[in-house]
Amino acid sequence: MAINESSPYEEGMEEYMNRGIKDVITEHPELEAILDDYDIGCGACMVGTCLLKDIVDVHGLPSETERALMGRITKVIYPNAEIETSEDDGKAQAERTFAYSPPVQILVDEHKLIKRLIALIPCITESMDLTTEDGRQLVLDGVDFIKTYADSFHHAKEEDLLFKYFDADSEIVSAFHEDHRVARNHVKNILEGVSEKNRAKVAEHLGAYNELLQVHIKREDEILYPWMDRNISSEQETELAASFDEVADRFGDVNERYEVFVQRLEKSFLN
Ligand SMILES: [Fe+2]
Ligand SMILES: [Fe+2]
Repeated sequence: MAINESSPYEEGMEEYMNRGIKDVITEHPELEAILDDYDIGCGACMVGTCLLKDIVDVHGLPSETERALMGRITKVIYPNAEIETSEDDGKAQAERTFAYSPPVQILVDEHKLIKRLIALIPCITESMDLTTEDGRQLVLDGVDFIKTYADSFHHAKEEDLLFKYFDADSEIVSAFHEDHRVARNHVKNILEGVSEKNRAKVAEHLGAYNELLQVHIKREDEILYPWMDRNISSEQETELAASFDEVADRFGDVNERYEVFVQRLEKSFLN
C-alpha cells in the first residue's frame, strides 16, 4: 500500500510523524489496534513519548510492511486519503524470528533463565507463607536471583555496556532504563513486605515484577536488541563481546549456579 505521491495529506502526515505516539493515539484511539497488528505495543508502553516516525524506525519493519502500516495510519487520520490497498496486514510480524550479534545473543540467552524464574512467580505467590522462616527464605532466594542474576549481572550489562553506545536521553533507551528502575522498586517493596510479614504487599509486588519483566524482555528481544544490533558497528560489537567476557569473569559461575537454583524450584513447583 502506498500513499499517492501527489497526496494533499503528505504534509499533514509529515507533521504527525514528528508528534509523540501517545499524543497521536489519544487523538485517534483506533491506531492502537492497528499498531498491535504489527506487534508494536505503543499503547501499553510506560513512557510512550517516542515520535511516530521513531516507532517506524525502531521496529525495523520490512519496507512493504512499513508502507502498509503507514497507509493504514494515514487512512485513520485522513479517512478520505486515496491509498492503494495491500495484503500485508502485519500478521507476519508476530511470527518473525530474530538473528542477534554474538554479544546480544548472550543477553537473549540470559532472558531465557529469567523467564523460567518469573514463570514460577505465580506458584511461589500462591504457596507463600511468610509466618515461617522457610517460607520467608523461599521469597528471599527468589529475590537473590532477581538482584544478583537479573539485575547486577544482566541489567547492569545492558545499562553499563550495551546501552552506552546509544543516547541515554533518547526515548527508547530511557524507556528501558525506566523499566529497570521500576523493577528495582518492586524488589525493594518485596523485601520490605517480607520483613513486615505482609503477604499482600509481597504478592502485589511479585506479581507486578512478573508482569513488567515479561513485557520488558519481549520488547528487548523483539524491538530494542534488533534495533541496537542494526546500529552498532562491527568494532563496537567486538568491544562489547570483550566487555561481556570481563563481566562473565567477574561473576564466575553465576550462570551455572542460578541454572541449578531455577531447576530446583521447577522441580518443587512443576512436578
Ligand atoms: Fe532490560
Ligand atoms: Fe534484558
